[in-house]
Amino acid sequence: MFHRHSTIHLTLAAAAFVLTGASHAQTAPAKAAPIKVGLMLPYTGTYANLGNMIENGFKLYVQEQGGKLAGQEIQYFKVDDESDPSKATDNVNKLIKRDQVDVVIGTVHSGVALAMARAAKESNKLLIIPNAGADAITGPICSKTVFRSSFSNWQPAYAMGQLAAKKGYKKAITVTWNYAAGNESVKGFAEGFEKGGGKIMQSMNIAFPNVEFQALLTQIASQKPDVVYSFFAGGGAVKFVKDYAATGMNKTIPLVGPGFLTDGTLEAQGAAAQGMITTLHYADNLNIARDKAFRLNFAKTYKTNADVYAVQGYDAAQMLTAGLKAANGDIRKLEQVVTGIEKAEIDSPRGKFKLSASHNPVHDIYIRQVKGNLNEFQGVAIKQLADPGRGCKM
Ligand code: BEZ
Repeated sequence: MFHRHSTIHLTLAAAAFVLTGASHAQTAPAKAAPIKVGLMLPYTGTYANLGNMIENGFKLYVQEQGGKLAGQEIQYFKVDDESDPSKATDNVNKLIKRDQVDVVIGTVHSGVALAMARAAKESNKLLIIPNAGADAITGPICSKTVFRSSFSNWQPAYAMGQLAAKKGYKKAITVTWNYAAGNESVKGFAEGFEKGGGKIMQSMNIAFPNVEFQALLTQIASQKPDVVYSFFAGGGAVKFVKDYAATGMNKTIPLVGPGFLTDGTLEAQGAAAQGMITTLHYADNLNIARDKAFRLNFAKTYKTNADVYAVQGYDAAQMLTAGLKAANGDIRKLEQVVTGIEKAEIDSPRGKFKLSASHNPVHDIYIRQVKGNLNEFQGVAIKQLADPGRGCKM
């Protein structure tokens, strides 16, 4: 018996040796497939610069990890979403269905991101949003596989509403682009401002991405509010801040807003933006060692200063890494990836943050003032502000 078993063992071992030996001779050892990362961002139009900064921030983190995340190679797929909601579903499906990416990173525009969030929810795909603040994404349409590394439109707006009331302003006019981000930003501002005793005299808007502001500015001048609250970003923010200053109103009626009004735009805005006060989860001279190292490496790598969009891209890569580490690098273990991100503390240049139950960062909202080419930190408007996540059920 013993002898017979030994023979069988020997025969099997010999066969195994021959097979392994043969396979070693012909092919390299099996390598894990790279993680397919789909970047869906605006590379053209008024938000093009924002898209590029997000991509650069994401790739900087990957580069700092030696070109891999949690030990896994990364393969990129890119789509220019043009900040066009009408093309958003087709565009995101180029990444999800055609390219079969493992994770989608995008985007800037709230209207485009709403379509992406719906597609991600339907296909159970991991989506990390590195900017768009649409409240519904971490509200009524929240989902297990959708995360934000940025903010909700409500967060910086509500903080500015409270701050404006504290400063003693009583009557405000709001002006913005007529789409989810602008409208929700104005709503958040009104909530904070009215709580503090302020009143909204009038809410004005203009279609996205139009920048013909003259008629609106004439109306503002005739109504004489104490303060003007405005949401614009990218190229539109540059034009609005310059047009506002050109009327001379900035000397008597302060123009305030969420920090997007002056972030990544100061070189182009020049004198027009000096002294402006905004609220945001980032500022240019935070006294945070992690931020100093990040800014130094960003400036060295890209020959330009980092801004809030670069930070959000960088943090999207950090969130993905936290998820991958929890799943031992295996992106197919989606439940483990999701739990890893939910539990992570992200060591962000903005300051460490965790995610709320609806997957939105809980972070300090800073008061910033424009001095030269910097949005200088002036203090904290609201500490550890969580989006209320109204209507989110997971
Ligand atoms: C948005 O559409 O959500 C958005 C765009 C630019 C800056 C901030 C928010």
